[in-house]
Amino acid sequence: MTPSLTIAIDGPAASGKGTIARQVALRYGLRHLDTGLLYRAVASLCAEEGIALEDAVAAGERATRLVPSDLEREGLRSAAAGRGASVVAAHPSVRAALLRWQRDFAEKAPGAVLDGRDIGTVVLPDARAKLFITADPDVRAARRWRELSETRNIAYRDVLRDIEERDARDAARSNAPMRQADDADLLDTTDMTITDAVAEAARLIDGRLNR
Ligand code: CDP
Repeated sequence: MTPSLTIAIDGPAASGKGTIARQVALRYGLRHLDTGLLYRAVASLCAEEGIALEDAVAAGERATRLVPSDLEREGLRSAAAGRGASVVAAHPSVRAALLRWQRDFAEKAPGAVLDGRDIGTVVLPDARAKLFITADPDVRAARRWRELSETRNIAYRDVLRDIEERDARDAARSNAPMRQADDADLLDTTDMTITDAVAEAARLIDGRLNR
């Protein structure tokens, strides 16, 4: 059996990692999983079913029953779902339940690109190429504000505060915190267009795959 090709892309909110991951998957003919959607879906299901986001046991149990169609729930891209996701994502029980799902997805031929916070460090430590994508918080907030304000009226300062709080929670949690893996390439997209960022990501990944 040919081992599947796995690529890990991590980074904070609105760094460009989602767009880069989708384009990289197309370039190498791989499947793509936005792992943030798993956490967003768990938070959304808990909210709907009256499970407190802080209840690690109940949220973890709910995460074990996630099915693929849950990733198509409405409203998963909202700021509220993002906030909820970063609360349930701090529970080891939730992370353990979602770990198997992510690895099963990645291991199926021909392989996959996963984007998230702990892909290069925890989910796929043996990925063939790893990127950590970042950008200054104000630039990330402006990008996310443009996206969100297409569908609703939202203040830039609320988006910035949300991103800063989420970054702090994601980086500070003791279980699988957001951090650059030792063997990941760093890509700072602050001064890049998304087209430039995708091209630079492809150059870095080509360099890793050709080693
Ligand atoms: O799109 P954005 O970067 O804003 O968020 P996301 O990737 O959908 O992730 C939402 C939240 O899920 C993050 O703030 C993390 O708390 C959590 N998450 C995580 O802990 N681990 C992952 N691999 C992916 C997301």
